[in-house]
Amino acid sequence: MKGIILAGGAGTRLYPLTIVTSKQLLPVYDKPMIYYPLSTLMLARIREVLIISTPEDTPRIRQLLGDGSQFGMELTYAVQEKPEGLAQAFTIGRDFIGDEACAMVLGDNIFYGNGLNHKLMDATRDAEAGKATIFGYYVEDPQRFGIMEFEKEDGDKHGVKVISVEEKPADPKSNYAIVGLYFYPEGVSDMADKVKPSARGELEITTLNDMYLQEGRLHAQLLGRGYTWMDAGTFDSLQRATDFVSMIEQYQGMTISAPEEIAYHFGWIDGDKLRESAARYGKSPYGDRLLAVLEGKVVI
Ligand code: G1P
Repeated sequence: MKGIILAGGAGTRLYPLTIVTSKQLLPVYDKPMIYYPLSTLMLARIREVLIISTPEDTPRIRQLLGDGSQFGMELTYAVQEKPEGLAQAFTIGRDFIGDEACAMVLGDNIFYGNGLNHKLMDATRDAEAGKATIFGYYVEDPQRFGIMEFEKEDGDKHGVKVISVEEKPADPKSNYAIVGLYFYPEGVSDMADKVKPSARGELEITTLNDMYLQEGRLHAQLLGRGYTWMDAGTFDSLQRATDFVSMIEQYQGMTISAPEEIAYHFGWIDGDKLRESAARYGKSPYGDRLLAVLEGKVVI
């Protein structure tokens, strides 16, 4: 199973913050935004990840994350020359994906919730068995997102039956947004080749999802109460994400979405490597929290 983080886009909705840096490198409380989607892929047990960004931002992201060995992972990089749509990630990533299943997470999407890793592992298993998975999350402004219409399916513990998917509908059929996290089976690059540009000129991920739906190979899971999903691409949502993470971390005295900690708990890196990483973070609370993990103070 492979993974892609799509960290493209000019980030103009966040100007002037993103004139000289990437949106995905902006802070969400104590760590850069991209640590969150990276952690999400890690929780799905994905260790080989391709990071796709703009020509300007790719070197900056590489400077931060390197080859991923500090997380016991393999990170590679590719450029999306122009923001021509999310589905393009799978054609850009064709060689990287090869003949494996592949997940994609958007670089500004933040997920949090107990049990998330089980849902993600189910999605990985389904993708490897030939089924795509999307995730639905209740929102009050459904016109802003890809939207899924669904019905409950008897006997399916993990998910719901998708009836339709629509990109930013004027008249939404439900209040469930399709979040920026997708799992696809082997062959997704060939499927993405068939996506035609939409009215706004983009290769829409929703068109790709609709193709899987038409083939009876699209499955959905809901992220219900107890889960938090945020897309941190506007000032207000970025501020809310920062408030949320600071509240959780200060209240619990633990860090969340720390790739080094996840890698250590999964046995992808050993204690020496974790200590090395903590040292890289200097005197920051983030580094201190990694050391607390190492000292066995944080066990979950
Ligand atoms: C994109 C997708 C949309 C999805 C959203 C999640 O929207 O096109 O289907 O619901 O991400 O963050 P965009 O951010 O490009 O407006």
